[in-house]
Amino acid sequence: MRIGVLTGGGDCPGLNAVIRAVVRTAVGKYGHAVVGFEDGWRGLLQDRKVVLLNDDRNDRLLAKGGTVLGTARTNPTKLQAGLETIKQTLDDNGIDVLIPIGGEGTLTAASWLSDEGVNVVGVPKTIDNDIDCTDVTFGHDTAVSVATDAIDRLHTTAESHQRVMLVEVMGRHAGWIALASGLASGAHLILVPEQPFDVDEVCRTVKRRFQRGDKHFICVVAEGAEPDPRSMKLADGGIDEFGHKRFTGVAHQLAIEIERRIGKEVRTTVLGHIQRGGTPTPFDRVLATRFGTCAVEAAQAGDFGKMVALHGTKIELVPLADATRRLKTVPEQRYQEASVFFG
Ligand code: F6P
Repeated sequence: MRIGVLTGGGDCPGLNAVIRAVVRTAVGKYGHAVVGFEDGWRGLLQDRKVVLLNDDRNDRLLAKGGTVLGTARTNPTKLQAGLETIKQTLDDNGIDVLIPIGGEGTLTAASWLSDEGVNVVGVPKTIDNDIDCTDVTFGHDTAVSVATDAIDRLHTTAESHQRVMLVEVMGRHAGWIALASGLASGAHLILVPEQPFDVDEVCRTVKRRFQRGDKHFICVVAEGAEPDPRSMKLADGGIDEFGHKRFTGVAHQLAIEIERRIGKEVRTTVLGHIQRGGTPTPFDRVLATRFGTCAVEAAQAGDFGKMVALHGTKIELVPLADATRRLKTVPEQRYQEASVFFG
């Protein structure tokens, strides 16, 4: 059997651990061949670059961040129009099964290919943790660890200067990173895309804390968090070439409003891609490894059109169509649970 692998969308700590596990299981256990396509779907659509993966290339990949195959975002419309080209490239390279490792966009394309009869087993990745039908995706734990460490550090400087600190973390549609890092680091407020915030209410919460005699205020803001437009309007950044809303810096704009409305000194830290780079945590290495192994086992069993997923402690298969139907966002009840610690 010849198995094709690609990594698509934003990179994510643990991608190399999946690639390693796919190669080890496919080549080492079953004697199959593994072909890596570079730069996500673009490799299949344009360059048709192929790299034959074997155990020699496999060494020391576990701890390596990023992806050795390279990755790219691809416009979904162009991708849909290019499905025939992708199928042709797969045929030209004698690929029997494709294992795309990616987020919502990559897995949606995988689902389209599966509908067209291509043998596909998807592996979910995203630091945002917004893929449905799996408890968690690898990369998320690393991002939360990086953010938590950063917020822990901000506490001491904020306290020394009696400042308000806003920390912007990633999370386009879902506030999982903000929620987890905010809870883990004892933040005094968490703002997530799922719950529009009222700027006056934020200001009241900040004031109350200082009036009680506390010396600092830490607020974790997901990059996709939005104010209730009646309380503040965010600058409009338009839409990028991949159909995503361009962010204009919610934390920075909120900082200006807090200073203006209540006269507190505010500083902003935007963690950005630091959350996505570097070595994966042990949790992510293990999850990524189990996902990679399970994907090859599914290919071996002929169980196609599926995505590997974590349910409790088990790795299971779910239909790609189910996993890509909607994004997994933070439920209201989870946010309410965290709000006990606000203020
Ligand atoms: O991969 C998800 C993500 O990290 C989002 O949280 C973030 O909005 C986006 O990717 C950033 O993408 P890019 O690397 O293309 O700027």
